[in-house]
Amino acid sequence: MTGSQGATDHSGVVVAGETPRQLNYTKVRAYWKSARPSMLGPYMMDGFGFPVGAGRFRFRGEVKAVAEAIKDLKPETSVLDLGCGIGVWAEYFAQRFSRVVAVEASSTLYTVLKERCSPYPNVTTHHRDVLSFEMKNDCGAAEGFGSTSGFGLVFLGGLLMYLNDHDVSILLRKLVSHLKPGAIVLCRESTIRQGVDTLQGDYQVVYRSVETYRNILVDAGFDVMKVQGNNAYISVQMACELVKKWKALVPARFRCLPIVGRLAYLGFRLGYPWNTRLIPWLLTRMGCEFPWLTNHFFVLRPSIQAAADRMDAPSHGTQVGQERMQKSR
Ligand SMILES: C[S@@+](CC[C@H](N)C(=O)[O-])C[C@H]1O[C@@H](n2cnc3c(N)ncnc32)[C@H](O)[C@@H]1O
Repeated sequence: MTGSQGATDHSGVVVAGETPRQLNYTKVRAYWKSARPSMLGPYMMDGFGFPVGAGRFRFRGEVKAVAEAIKDLKPETSVLDLGCGIGVWAEYFAQRFSRVVAVEASSTLYTVLKERCSPYPNVTTHHRDVLSFEMKNDCGAAEGFGSTSGFGLVFLGGLLMYLNDHDVSILLRKLVSHLKPGAIVLCRESTIRQGVDTLQGDYQVVYRSVETYRNILVDAGFDVMKVQGNNAYISVQMACELVKKWKALVPARFRCLPIVGRLAYLGFRLGYPWNTRLIPWLLTRMGCEFPWLTNHFFVLRPSIQAAADRMDAPSHGTQVGQERMQKSR
């Protein structure tokens, strides 16, 4: 599972013929075990001097995208939230759907998750690694995993970037057989503009481009129904990247992070949402890639199901749907 050979050039593009760098899962686990279990920790916004309101702002912004993606799901839907952190989304789903299964590997975050979800009898929490989580055995028959039931929604909120390609593929393939007809998988992942970049320090993560995600997701048997930029994330990310530059320039004792972080956050917050388009657009024209990191939602359906949906749709894609059904047989 570990590896360190370089396979990206300086721009993060995978160099043909070389093995992509792999995440060291021991380091990934160690990082998340030490993460601060606050609204900022699982959002990677700790250490910038931001107020907790920055986490709430990002969550509220994301709620709009999630609400739109799940609007057709019935209240009796079962939800699987993998890599759920402190459970802000598990709680959100618990208030809307009949059952939520929430899985988290970090013991630090799991403690907060359990406490947050304790008022909700419809939430089951599991302190497990998603790679060893057996949906049938670990959830048990009581969770309703028969051949006719399954999950109507799987939420992967910033999980796939902590898994190597091979494991993303295994996990997604495993999910398919536990999905109800009509189910969706909703991912939210940090993205870069091109290729793949795997950070190898104490904080290990794979940043992939939207195109790279598309290829992995399609290869794992899913159709990508929608890709949407996460503007609230981008707004806070711009503040993060400015503060990072500040930290690189100014010695620690002169940084005044609680003030600088608040000012940076508030500056971008005031211009939201226009600045999330305008600033990157302007800077790209000037040859500057800012922010370096972006974030996207991906709405997925298993390919066969998506093809069937297309065949059912009265005015669109019947031929494409039939072709895909034939291919998948
Ligand atoms: C960026 S945080 C996102 C948390 C949450 N989904 C949210 O949106 O607020 C990523 C989470 O995935 C968890 N995680 C990473 N790899 C995992 C694995 N192999 N098994 C279970 N959880 C994992 C981390 O511990 C962390 O809580």
